[in-house]
This record gives sequence, C-alpha cells and structure tokens, in this order.
Amino acid sequence: MTPKKPIQTQYLADYRPYPFHLNETRLRFGLSDSATEVTSELDFTRQGEGSLILDGGTGLDILRLAIDGQELAPEDFTREGEMLSIADSALPGDSFTFSATVRIDPSSNTAFEGLYLSGGMFCTQCEAEGFRHITFYPDRPDVMAPFRVVIDSEQPVLLSNGNPVGQEPGRAEWHDPWPKPAYLFALVAGDLVAISDSYATQSGRVVALNVWVRPGDQDRAGFAMESLIKSMKWDEEVYGREYDLDVFNIVAVDDFNMGAMENKGLNIFNSKLVLASPETATDADYERIESVIAHEYFHNWTGNRITCRDWFQLCLKEGLTVFRDQQFTSDLRSAPVKRIEDVQSLRARQFREDQGPLAHPPRPDHYREINNFYTATVYEKGAEVIGMLKRLVGEDGYKAALDLYFDRHDGDAATIEDWLLVFEDATGRDLAQFKRWYTDAGTPRLRMDEEWTDGTLTLRFSQETPPTPGQDDKQPRVIPIAVGLIGPNGDETRPTEILEMTDAQQSFTFEGLGARPVVSVLRGFSAPVVLDRDLDDAGRAFLLAHDTDPFVRWEAGRELALNALQSMAQGGSADPAYVDAIGRLMSDDDVDPAFRALCLQLPAEEEVAGRLAHAGVTPDPDTIHAAHMQLAHSVAEAHEDLLIRLYQSMEVTGGYRPDAQDAAQRALRLIAMARLNLLDGGERAATLFETAGNMTERFAALSAMIRAGRADAALETFRQEFADNRLVMDKWFMIQPAAASPDQAATIAAELSQRDDFEWKNPNRFRALLGGLAANHAGFHAADGLGYDFTADWLIRMDAANPQIAARMSTVFETWKRYDAGRREKSLAALQRIAATPRLSRNSEEMVSRMIE
Ligand code: PHE
Ligand code: ZN
Repeated sequence: MTPKKPIQTQYLADYRPYPFHLNETRLRFGLSDSATEVTSELDFTRQGEGSLILDGGTGLDILRLAIDGQELAPEDFTREGEMLSIADSALPGDSFTFSATVRIDPSSNTAFEGLYLSGGMFCTQCEAEGFRHITFYPDRPDVMAPFRVVIDSEQPVLLSNGNPVGQEPGRAEWHDPWPKPAYLFALVAGDLVAISDSYATQSGRVVALNVWVRPGDQDRAGFAMESLIKSMKWDEEVYGREYDLDVFNIVAVDDFNMGAMENKGLNIFNSKLVLASPETATDADYERIESVIAHEYFHNWTGNRITCRDWFQLCLKEGLTVFRDQQFTSDLRSAPVKRIEDVQSLRARQFREDQGPLAHPPRPDHYREINNFYTATVYEKGAEVIGMLKRLVGEDGYKAALDLYFDRHDGDAATIEDWLLVFEDATGRDLAQFKRWYTDAGTPRLRMDEEWTDGTLTLRFSQETPPTPGQDDKQPRVIPIAVGLIGPNGDETRPTEILEMTDAQQSFTFEGLGARPVVSVLRGFSAPVVLDRDLDDAGRAFLLAHDTDPFVRWEAGRELALNALQSMAQGGSADPAYVDAIGRLMSDDDVDPAFRALCLQLPAEEEVAGRLAHAGVTPDPDTIHAAHMQLAHSVAEAHEDLLIRLYQSMEVTGGYRPDAQDAAQRALRLIAMARLNLLDGGERAATLFETAGNMTERFAALSAMIRAGRADAALETFRQEFADNRLVMDKWFMIQPAAASPDQAATIAAELSQRDDFEWKNPNRFRALLGGLAANHAGFHAADGLGYDFTADWLIRMDAANPQIAARMSTVFETWKRYDAGRREKSLAALQRIAATPRLSRNSEEMVSRMIE
C-alpha cells in the first residue's frame, strides 16, 4: 500500500474574507494544443490584514511572475501544493498589479476541469475550482472582478464572457463589465457555427443570441434557441429580471462533466442538453433541454449577479435556480405532472442520499472535495426548502422577499443567512427554526393519527428525524402540512389548508363535520418528509378516485402498488386493490393522459428495496424483481382490452411536436405497450420499432424488445443507423444493461465495455454504460457480485483520468449496507479495492471512505 496523504477538511467556521480587493482582471491567451500561454494582470488593493496568496494547480509552468512590471526573484515567492505565496516584502504598497505568465497543456487534460480540448475545440470548465488550473488567482467565489480577455488563436470562432470589443482574424477581445468570480469565467475557441436570433428585453435592450454547435449540427439546435427565448421572457414576467449584456452565447460541447454551466454571457452545455431532433431525441430529452437551458439562463441573476460567498453556500444559487426552473416548467407544461416527476426524482435520489452514509445538509459545514457536493441534497432538497418557505410566507410574501433579495444583494457574494434575512425582513416572520432545514441532514418521518368524535376530527402528528453521519440529535423542524378533507360521497368538504407544525408532537382539529371524511394529507408534497399513516387499501383507492389534489391522488395509487409489491416480495400474494383501482383510473378519459401514464408506472425496484429496508426487512433484489414482473403482468392480464384501446387511441398523428400534450399521449401509449409486451411477446414493440418516425417511440420499442428477448437484430439496425451520432449511441450503450435480465446485465455491460466504440473517457458514454447497469437494480446487485466488480474496475480506471466522474459514479454503491451478508461482503470488497488504489484522487477517496465508514 502506498501511504495515503491526509486530505484536508475545509470548515465553514474558518471563513475569512480575502485581504485584497480585485479591481480588474486582464487575461491574454496564446492558444496551442499542448503549450498554451496565459498572461494575467490582476489589479489589487489591500482591504485587510494578510499576505497575498494565490491558488494555482501543479500543472502551471511558471514563465514569469511580476509585480508592477518588476519580475519577481525566486526568494519573493513560495509554491506549496496548489498555493503560491508572495513575500510581503515583494509588495510595493496597498495597490499594485500582479502579473503571471504560465504555460499549460490542454491536450493532456482528461479531467475536463480548467482549459481542455473536446474534439479539437478549446473550452473551459471552472466551477468550482477549475480556474486555478488556468492561472494563479484568488480562486474563491467572494473575489469578484470585471474581466478583459484577449484570445490569440487560429481557430475561427473565439468566445469569452461579456461583450465583444474587437474581432480580427486570429484575435478576439472580450470585456465583461459585471464583476464576477473566477468560477464564472469561460473561453471557447473552435470551428463552430451558430444558429442566431435576437431578443428585445423589457427595457428595449436588443440582445444577440447564438447557439454554437459543430458544423452539421445546426439543424438540431433550434429547440435550444426557442427554449432560451422562452426563458428570457419568463424571467422578465415572473421575476422582473432582465438580461444585462449585448450578447448571450450558448456552446454545445461533447466532453463535459456535468449538464451545463452558467458562465456569464457564455453558457457551456453538454451537447446532449442542446441537440435535439425528432429522429434522435425523446420527449424526455426535449423536456430536459428546455429546463436546463432555463436553469442556466436563470443563473444570470441567481448565481451570477448574486453569487455565493463560499462553496458551503452552494445551495443558495443551486436550490433557488432549480426552484425557478421547476416553476418555469410547471408554467409551460403541466404543473401537477411536473410536481409528481420532481417528487419521484427527489425520492429516488435525494431521499436515498439522505438515508445513507453520504447524507449531508443542504448547507454542509465541512467538506474535503467540493466537487462531491453537487448533490441531489444541495440541488433538489435546496429547491424543496424554498418551496416550503414560499408555502409558509405565501405568494405575496415570497414576491416581496425576492424583490428585496435582488435589491439588497445585487453584486454580492451572499450567504444562506442573508437569504433568510430577506424573508424575515420582508414578512416579519422569525425563521430561526426554519433554518434547520438548511443545517440539518436527514429526512423527517412524519406520523399522522386520526381521532373522530361527534363531528370533530383531530389529526395528531409526530415528527422524528433519524440520525445522520455526524448529527445524532435532531431538533423538530417547521413542517408545512397541506391538508384537505374529502367527504364520503367523494366531494371535497374542506379545501386545502396549511397546518404549520413546529413541535415534535402536535394536534390540529377540524370541527363541525357532518360525516367522517377521508384526510388528504401532504397535498402537493408540501414538505420533503416520509409520511406514515394508517389507511387501508379501500381508503387509498378512494383517494385515487376522488381527491382533488393530483399529487395525493397519484400518491394513493403508488402506495397501493408499494403495498402489493412489499407483500409479494415477502412471499405474500398480490392484493387486487391496486389492479382494480388502476383499471378504473385508466379508463377515465377525462383524466390527463400524462397523469394516467404516471399512475400506471410501478414504483422502481430500488424504491421497494428502500421501503423494505426502512421497515427493517433485508431486501432481496431477485424477489423484488420477480414481484415487480408479476404485478405488471397482473395489470396486463386484468386490463388487456383497455390497454389495447389506449395503445390505439393515444396514437399521435401528424408531424412530431415535443409539446406537453403530444408527449402525454405518447407516454400513455408507450406504457400501455410496455404492459402489453408481457402478453404479446414483443410483437407490438417490433412493429412500432419498424414504423415509428421519432426516437421517443423507437427507443421505447427497442427497450421493450430487449425485455422480450428479441432485440438482437433491432439493436444492430439501430447501431448501424446511428453509428455517427454519439448521443444516440449513448442510449444504445445504456439500454442494453438497463433492460437486460438481471442475471445477464453485468456480463452484457462487460462485453460492451470491450468494444472500440466504448469511448470511456467521454463522460456521457461512461455514464451511459455504468449508469445503465446501475439502473438495473437486480442486475447491479446480482448475488454473484459481478456487477460490483465490473463497476469497481471501471471506477478505478476512470479515477486516474477524470476524478470527478469516477467519484460521482461511485454513489451507485451508496445503499450497499441495506442488503444481505453475501452482497454486503462483495460490495465492501469492491469499495475497499477502490480505496486501496495507489494515487486515488481526493474526490474518490472522500466518497469511498464515507461509504465504508
Ligand atoms: N453550476 C452548474 C449548474 O448547476 C453545474 C456545474 C457544476 C457544472 C460544476 C460544472 C461544474 O448549472
Ligand atoms: Zn445550477
């Protein structure tokens, strides 16, 4: 074993302001694949005590360091790890210009952090701490400056932040007047073409809009442009926020670690979140592109104009921006459907995180590697917390608080305390207890008991949050509980009311009721908690049929399905309640097809495993898989005629449109097909695969054929047709292990990983294959341990090239402690093997050690 270097923990409590103000940053890039020269000039003014310390990665080759033009001598500075310290004696006074010329090698940058090459094009990724791999700098979000950038390069298109101030062949100059931290810096240089449009803002500023893609991809960029224009309009109408530069550029890049990045005036996107055509992208892809374009655009105000003081405050920008993009999608599409989708993903990703070894608060107070904190908790729970805040203060209070936030903090690097204070000041509410949602990890358990006497209904609630790593004792939180009452005839007798729970135990009464109602509770999923109540299947079926709240309606169906699956996974038989109730809902043509499609989906096998573990039962992935298949089969058999009718009547005729209405019909039609697939041996799917003109239907057909065991020829046809399209080929790599039978999934993944076109250094391709296997719950957790071994092998290999991707993918192991001794032993061995890898990155080391501990 190589000795491990201790990795340093960063603490929120250690925050100190930077001792210098940065008045302006000037950069000059001489681009070359393996020897790019970067010259910086940084105008500093002292504002506090302390030395001049700059961050700078070990890959920076120093050519010259100077202060006020005077070259520094070796004794004027010291370099230690990723830090450059300038001797106090070398500083001429309180105001000076520090300058550095360094050489860097973009061609060897496989971590895609800092300046790198993607398919011959230069691009950057600086959040969170990538700028230090470009030049020496105070690389922290509270040091903000206007930037002037000159790019010298033979590449035809040269882009940076802000407005263009000079363009000539081989050189471009950009000026960004808005002070920004280094993590929002971006540069792109390559052979690109734009689709262009323009937008006139509320106040009449005309903004040039460009979506830059590789030549040949222009015909797949139109939807991204439409989405951008919708986002700009929405932010003006709903938040009163206007764009503030003359140009807004979006660039699509094939090699990108994340989804997209909100660099000021120059958003850089993973190409899968820009490029779409009916033949190559699914309805889900379109919806995601629309929402991520909006998300990055909305960051211009929530993230850029107001940024974070330090990285502990990450959810200040991310939670709020996710909340805003969720509102945007609700407004453009169906609000109930969006809410249900968001809750599904919150439970699948954030609850899972919150209930395992990686649990942390939305605002953590320590970390070892910040890149490991771009999590579902920071993003999605961060957004849920804002939703609760809005529920508590009401629409008007929220609006007043947001106006005050933009007013008071424009140009600031702010904190969660600043954020909460604007709500307190705008509404007069004390948010001290509410703050626990930001500082405490864990998902509260909320229990509801009912008591009925003489027309009075009493609801007794109790809350408890289980311990999480480093936080054993949990205080009660403020929980907004949205409740409505449904009378025995199915009519709503009390409309939605928000009960505000603040104590560990608390009761609420409803008086003057004629007959005992059915309680519709946690409407709209009014708080991110696990709700526990005694309600029999008849009561759930009643809510599924009658509730006016679409979320609770859907939830009632999901509870019925979960109960059936849970009992079947423990050897019981399927209760007909779910099958009957779902049939009644399916045949109701007054109900939105998208909502019906959501109700027809079964809870994921992973979710059933989580529910069993929570009930103290060790989940067996194979039994859960069998129960899942059996329940789907029961639905198909009981409702075959109805499903056939839906498959026919939901067909969308005419050209493909990615809008919510058409997508809803396709969703219901395709889930009907997936159920029928269990009876027709893949016949319908095979026909649809041949005849469909759009990727939504073709891809659903292909996955159904894999499940029916008759996809060999179709997979080959698909591959030949799309061999030149990386994004579609990612789908091909993903679906094979994902839809495989569990006993073959790991072997199939291993075979695919040996192919020449498994370009594993491309993050999308890597995630497709490993994520595809992990999505196959019983396949990844196969008792022979092949899924664990395959995954560990590739995480080790990826860690040496791209630590961020390896560390993020390692979360597929996060639930390992739930399973039986045999599986635990095998997954622990895989994790230990990763931990023992020589020169393991700080990223993976932190993740793996937290999971093992
Ligand atoms: N800030 C980006 C977003 O949420 C995500 C991101 C983080 C991208 C880190 C790259 C690196 O939109
Ligand atoms: Zn974001």
